[in-house]
Amino acid sequence: DMTRAVPPPPGRPLVVAHRGNSAVAPQNTLAAFEAAARAGADVVELDVRLTADGEVVVLHDDTVDATTNGSGKIADFDLREVRLLDAGSWFSPAYAGQRVPTFDAVTDLLRARQGLGLLLELKGAWTARQVRRVTEPLRAAGLVDRTVAQSFWPETVAAVRDVDPDLRRGLLVATAHEDLLERCADLGVVACNPPGTVLRDDPDLVRRLHDAALTTAVWTLNEPAHWGQAVALGVDGIITDRPDRLLGWLAGR
Ligand code: G3P
Ligand code: CA
Repeated sequence: DMTRAVPPPPGRPLVVAHRGNSAVAPQNTLAAFEAAARAGADVVELDVRLTADGEVVVLHDDTVDATTNGSGKIADFDLREVRLLDAGSWFSPAYAGQRVPTFDAVTDLLRARQGLGLLLELKGAWTARQVRRVTEPLRAAGLVDRTVAQSFWPETVAAVRDVDPDLRRGLLVATAHEDLLERCADLGVVACNPPGTVLRDDPDLVRRLHDAALTTAVWTLNEPAHWGQAVALGVDGIITDRPDRLLGWLAGR
């Protein structure tokens, strides 16, 4: 199935570890991605941003304040400065010394973890030239077939399409606006990923997306009641901070 980078196992949605196994390890660190793989997650979700010198690093916020011992906008840091940040101590002293990962470190980890999927979120507006900083390493590492590149920014999704049309793409949406399916068709995405709250208000959305040959992974659901609703609606993936618990819950149904 060309629309699915990683096909869901029979009878259940994909378990997508949000920023890694971010309930047990500091989000968006190699420790969190390793914990997700150990838990048996099907896919890791992570966020990438650009440094001042154009390097790709893994960070959710536009500043380093919340998840490192530094402060300021990531776009003002050179990679050399990013490498000095501690991205683990804020979570627990046990994770002191975890770094803000480079994208290269992530591709190394994924190569070592055969079969682990990647849901790669590009934060912000990226140009085609900037997008090459992720598509070329993905190609070089042989990871294109198990990756979906997604963004809230349509111009970034369009840049991915223009640079590497065969890399699967997803559109992240905060609301289900009227022209959503048209926009997905224009961008040539295989996935449209809304928050759980949108599905609760508009339960028919999954059917409309599926009718348009789009998959959908819903975010960020950490409670069994919400997992139950998402499964009942037939979602293709559940993005969660608790992949270990979600896998246990799915197995015990
Ligand atoms: O993958 C979807 C989800 O991660 C989007 O929200 O803020 O956690 O990046 P956020
Ligand atoms: Ca994200």
